[in-house]
Amino acid sequence: MTEPRPPEGEGPAPAATSVVIAFRLNGRRVETLAPVRLTAAELLRDQLGLTGTKVSCGIQVCGACTVLVDGAPASSCCLLAVDLDGTEVVTVEGLAQGRELHPVQEAFAAANALQCGYCTPGFVMMTVALLAADPRPDRAAVREWLDGNLCRCTGYAPIETAVILAAERTAP
Ligand code: FES
Ligand code: FES
Repeated sequence: MTEPRPPEGEGPAPAATSVVIAFRLNGRRVETLAPVRLTAAELLRDQLGLTGTKVSCGIQVCGACTVLVDGAPASSCCLLAVDLDGTEVVTVEGLAQGRELHPVQEAFAAANALQCGYCTPGFVMMTVALLAADPRPDRAAVREWLDGNLCRCTGYAPIETAVILAAERTAP
């Protein structure tokens, strides 16, 4: 038996399908309307035009979509856009200073740590987070930290080399 409908104008209000969120994105304040089911990756790429963040698996196993949220790596494919409200987000677009690449980006280029480049933004963001926590990681630590990031092209050795190179260039 179906429940009788409440009279028109009574009963619970319909759930919101979009909400206004505000957060800092690559150092700038952003305020936008976010559909409640939108992922953070969709918000960044499709709504805000920052396509540097890539989406591959969409189920939090490849790391391509990694961004920093309050300094910690996050899989933006499995994070709701509304959960960015009040946070500080950094994407790969936020690393370079004008035409000057971030030292981690420089190191990836110098070590030939990319081929097709699709996985690279995720590896770079993970590396930025690693070096913030551990400025001089050894290769074992690098391997363990990047365990959740997949690359179909490089064989990983150049990526490890790039991370060590970035550490050598930036460690205090
Ligand atoms: S696309 Fe998000 S982890 Fe693979
Ligand atoms: S460089 Fe192609 S997937 Fe990593």
